[in-house]
Amino acid sequence: MTGVGSTEPASSGGAGLAGAGAGTNKPSRYASWTAGKLPLPELVEMKRRGEKIVMVTAYDAPSGRLADAAGVDMILVGDSSGMVMHGRESTVPVTLDEILFMTQWVTRGAKRPLVIADMPFGTYEASNEQAIGTAVRLVKEGGADAVKLERGGTSVARAKAIVDAGIAVMGHVGLTPQTATVLGGFKAQGRTADRAKELIDDAFALQEAGCFAVVLEAVPAPVARKATRALGVPTIGIGAGGDTDGQVLVWHDMLGFYEGHAPRFVKRYAELGDAITAALGRFAEEVRSGAFPEERHTYTMPETEREAFERAGAPTATSRRR
Ligand code: KIV
Repeated sequence: MTGVGSTEPASSGGAGLAGAGAGTNKPSRYASWTAGKLPLPELVEMKRRGEKIVMVTAYDAPSGRLADAAGVDMILVGDSSGMVMHGRESTVPVTLDEILFMTQWVTRGAKRPLVIADMPFGTYEASNEQAIGTAVRLVKEGGADAVKLERGGTSVARAKAIVDAGIAVMGHVGLTPQTATVLGGFKAQGRTADRAKELIDDAFALQEAGCFAVVLEAVPAPVARKATRALGVPTIGIGAGGDTDGQVLVWHDMLGFYEGHAPRFVKRYAELGDAITAALGRFAEEVRSGAFPEERHTYTMPETEREAFERAGAPTATSRRR
């Protein structure tokens, strides 16, 4: 796995973790351990020990369950759902209700990973009260363990207000898709010395506001490295090189079933789109040829009942009405 150590620990952790009750097998990479949820303070300990943090996005219960079984540390219910799940051109139209529903689904499937719910565009910018209201709903109704918001600037005060209300917040700087238009499109950020400094200042301000981690998206590796070394809280990179404290990828991108434009930082770990198309093609072929369903896919009835049923003959119009 590029920049995330290896997939080894994830699968060894996962082996003893599939299922909610499997709490006694503490994977060696964790210092603290509880039977259920990964404790939030463990993230900063992982940074201190130089152990990479693994985050993926997920949008439904089966995906949450699979990510849990694979031993990932955090799941982001990202507003990337708007693009990879719902076919939109950007994340801007994603609504709070959508993220709420998806967070409920993911938290039903994922028991151990920390589940972070993205705060959609337009649900936190106007005031601290609006931001707290949104975050409370995501935690209370969605079951999220934490929330994520984008940008520095006014988002710093929003993050502080949410943290002060008792909710854990993850920051997100660099390419912030909710404001991609202002940034000039979906492109790398912090590529001049001045912009790089601003970006790191934003990350610092979010840390000062109480954020427990900061996502660095589409940022040159030297900038992400400097930010990661300077910050006390973990950085989670996406297109930010291999020196961040953790890595995140979008589910559909990494598993190969998103057909839109994939940024250069995406590595495909599977080709599930091809596998699904091939499986559906076989199903269509077998339905048309009559090869499916076979005997073993079909229900039977006791022989005496079948005979009685056959003796009754064909249903008449009157018997059908009853
Ligand atoms: O919405 C999302 O999936 C994200 C990640 C790309 C970090 O914000």
